[in-house]
Amino acid sequence: MVTLLNTVEDKFAREICRDHGDKSDELLEILHAVQHEKGHLSDGALRTIAQALNISRAEIHGVVSFYHDYKREAGAQFTLHICRAEACQAVGADELITEAETLFDVKLDGGGEDVALAAAYCLGNCALGPAVLVNEKLYGRVDKAKIKAIAAQHMAQNS
Ligand code: FES
Repeated sequence: MVTLLNTVEDKFAREICRDHGDKSDELLEILHAVQHEKGHLSDGALRTIAQALNISRAEIHGVVSFYHDYKREAGAQFTLHICRAEACQAVGADELITEAETLFDVKLDGGGEDVALAAAYCLGNCALGPAVLVNEKLYGRVDKAKIKAIAAQHMAQNS
């Protein structure tokens, strides 16, 4: 007797795959869309995507673990990516990181309930450093007061 385990564990992930024609070469866009909506990539979402795109779970886990922006656990509502490449360091990126860690009570590359902090290495905004990226929105000349305002704005959007 053959048993078909063809259940859809994550309806949203299934819809996104369908929107992308169930094409495996659109895996990154699909993962991005699911994470953007759900905040992280659950086991169920990954199994659903693997099945829809007809790729192995090992393959999808390899991709997700390669790109550090993909989150496997529910956590912070958003991540503040702070550039610490040369030009931003020259205008105070490291001080900004220290201030942000104190302000949000999280460590760089760690996350709290609301905010996570991650290092970035050049966001293409070198003339306006320190640069910060949140949900694909880029901010320049960020200082302690501005990063606090940016976080407040994104928290308000998420509530
Ligand atoms: S060095 Fe920070 S944006 Fe380029």
